[in-house]
Amino acid sequence: MSRQWTVDARVSQADQDKWNLRYREGTYAIRKHPSALLEEWLPKLKIREAHPRAIDVACGTGRNAIYLARRGWHVDAVDISQVALDHLTETATTENLPITCIQMDLEGTSRRPADLFTADRYDLAIMIRYTNMPLVDTLKDVLSAGGYLIVEEHLVAEADVVGPRNPKFCVPPGVLRDAAAGLDIVAYREGIVTDPDGRPAALAQLVARAPR
Ligand SMILES: C[S@@+](CC[C@H](N)C(=O)[O-])C[C@H]1O[C@@H](n2cnc3c(N)ncnc32)[C@H](O)[C@@H]1O
Repeated sequence: MSRQWTVDARVSQADQDKWNLRYREGTYAIRKHPSALLEEWLPKLKIREAHPRAIDVACGTGRNAIYLARRGWHVDAVDISQVALDHLTETATTENLPITCIQMDLEGTSRRPADLFTADRYDLAIMIRYTNMPLVDTLKDVLSAGGYLIVEEHLVAEADVVGPRNPKFCVPPGVLRDAAAGLDIVAYREGIVTDPDGRPAALAQLVARAPR
């Protein structure tokens, strides 16, 4: 199983430091469970390949990449935080999982992020709880025919929920659905869900499929 680092020299130091600190402080340490959206939909995806390829952007310590790799997926796992990727590499090495970690600034790169991914096409692209709407277009471009896009974003909400306080890092209603234009929408919902750790989250959730 190959696991490698592809380090992009243009990673923003300030953003990297911010996220490294959060991971060092254990901010997401209790969030080990995979995304409930991914758990719900993965068994329903119509995938023919025995070892399909997935990309997990802003993967963090890889709760979702690990979930996929344990089920036979080859996963490119991308994040700005080396601390988070170190955790993921350790798990992938211990379990011999086919995960390739890529350190990359998904906002700051001068090249299109897709030029820095390891594959031309993916059967599944996931972006969970990382707000970067322009990146949705990039992910659409790297889907294979019939490939799936699963995105979960914090929704702008008045309620006391988990997630960013700054509305800049949340999506207004309808924006994620609009971003999926050109794909077939398999499922879309917005609302408050209870996370597996019991905390409420206001989310926009999308499952979409590239035309075959
Ligand atoms: C809230 S965490 C979500 C992590 C993971 N997707 C999950 O669901 O557990 C947001 C992630 O986005 C990453 N991130 C933030 N800005 C980034 C950037 N400019 N480029 C790449 N990753 C970034 C952070 O390091 C962090 O791991």
